[in-house]
Amino acid sequence: MVAPLTKELLAEIEACTALLRAGKVVAVPTETVYGLGADASNRAAVRRIFEIKGRPTDHPVIVHVASAAHLERWAREVPPAARALAARFWPGPLTLVLPRRPEVLPEVTGGQDTVALRVPAHPVTLRLLERLDGGLAAPSANRFGRLSPTTAEHVRVELGDQVDRILDGGPCRVGVESTIVALIGRPHLLRPGGVPVAELERALGQPLERGAGPSARLRAPGGLAAHYAPATPLELVEPAALEERARTLVRAGVRLAVVARSGGLLQAARDAGAARAVAMPAPPDEYARRLYATLRELDGEGLGGILVEAPPDEGAWLAVRDRLSRASHGSRRDGTS
Ligand code: TXA
Ligand code: MG
Repeated sequence: MVAPLTKELLAEIEACTALLRAGKVVAVPTETVYGLGADASNRAAVRRIFEIKGRPTDHPVIVHVASAAHLERWAREVPPAARALAARFWPGPLTLVLPRRPEVLPEVTGGQDTVALRVPAHPVTLRLLERLDGGLAAPSANRFGRLSPTTAEHVRVELGDQVDRILDGGPCRVGVESTIVALIGRPHLLRPGGVPVAELERALGQPLERGAGPSARLRAPGGLAAHYAPATPLELVEPAALEERARTLVRAGVRLAVVARSGGLLQAARDAGAARAVAMPAPPDEYARRLYATLRELDGEGLGGILVEAPPDEGAWLAVRDRLSRASHGSRRDGTS
């Protein structure tokens, strides 16, 4: 799925690196979602990311680096657990939150005493990071609170006229954002994501702390209830209740899409009069890869509502379930239903 590093692509990576060094904003591919990148040591460039996204300035951004060898440039302390996770999962969809070095810009950390670091597993952006030999501050390349982009085209449609360049590395392989783990005191899960929690716990040899707990200070706005949302009202419905809910909405005149994994539910949705019945893959990783593109497509169809069959709230489904649940909070239906 990832484009090979052709001569043309290498030249494009060089051009993007030069733009970043000059303080420009470049959208970059990663294995999770596309990022909106700027040189993390350039205050004005980082500020522009926030303007483009329409994001509150106290929300920290992830700094992307070429390898774990860069950790000490950003973190003033790297505990053994961080090293173990980096060795096992980088490059990959894992972000580590560590105490920051004093020179890391407050624009990057949201004024907090920590910095989030990640080595993305995408050959195009890894090459760019090696050439940049610095940190790339990059939140997901979408407007604040909306769906993350998983293709260059998504970025073009949403932000194309505002970014200086879009580096096209093909569709994202993982499709949901990185797992975020804070290593300030006991290892703490801040956001489920591309690396399953069970794999992290196995590598750490201990369970991850969850919820606000002792690190309520570690604000992760991706943890806001309403986030990752389409504009069309979306409801997450347990399988047993889905057919009934579809009937109710259709009866109320709602032009409805039903997104489900089970063939039986899709047929029931069609029988209930849903305008669209969208089949999703049964394996969680394939589902994740398709999730945002599917919601974006439905969002463009002028529907009155989207019902999604709730996946399990556990195991390899955690990240998908988390994003769907936030999407449902971010897209509240008003009125009677
Ligand atoms: O997969 C990803 O993580 C993608 C790609 C582009 O790398 N990036 C991404 O960035 O999802 P963004 O900004 O949309 O979400 C990053 C999350 C936010 O919830 C932010 O609050 C949290 O990381 N974060 C960043 N720095 C933090 C810090 N110092 N402490 C706690 N949370 C932090
Ligand atoms: Mg985001």
